[in-house]
Amino acid sequence: MQLQELVYTSLSDIHADPDDVKDILTASEKNNKRLEITGLLLYDGERYIQILEGDPNKVDDLFGKIKADSRHVEIELLHKGPITGRSFQNWRMAYEALPLGLLDELAENMAVFSMELDGKPLDAGESFGSRLNGMFMDAIAAE
Ligand SMILES: Cc1cc2nc3c(=O)[nH]c(=O)nc-3n(C[C@H](O)[C@H](O)[C@H](O)COP(=O)(O)O)c2cc1C
Repeated sequence: MQLQELVYTSLSDIHADPDDVKDILTASEKNNKRLEITGLLLYDGERYIQILEGDPNKVDDLFGKIKADSRHVEIELLHKGPITGRSFQNWRMAYEALPLGLLDELAENMAVFSMELDGKPLDAGESFGSRLNGMFMDAIAAE
């Protein structure tokens, strides 16, 4: 099975409801299971960074749907590329809330890193997913 990872960032809508994330995760749990999509959603109260992993067509289709969601704006693709394995195997959509302002720099660094790659494939363990998984594990351990 071909696998792809897709990472984007966006800003929550100015009228964001505190229940938005809960609703998003409920939909993700249901749909991502059916689509065999796994990933991580990071949110710092303002900015989202999400990674989606799975079949390339299914990931692209889901991203199309997510892009049309009015709960967020200024959606920017940071990276898309083939992967040899999943980094969030056990999560339909893992979630971590982070302190405000933490994701701006991360999003910028990821965009630059992806541009430098210029389409070159990444070795296993170098994927955006494995980097984000490392951060996610550190965040959990610090809780
Ligand atoms: C930041 C963000 C991330 C989202 N991530 C997912 C996701 O991983 N899976 C999903 O099915 N919907 C996700 N959604 C919600 C979709 O845009 C859409 O509302 C949902 O898939 C509709 O589900 P339904 O067709 O079952 O009602 C996300 C929305 C936002 C704003």
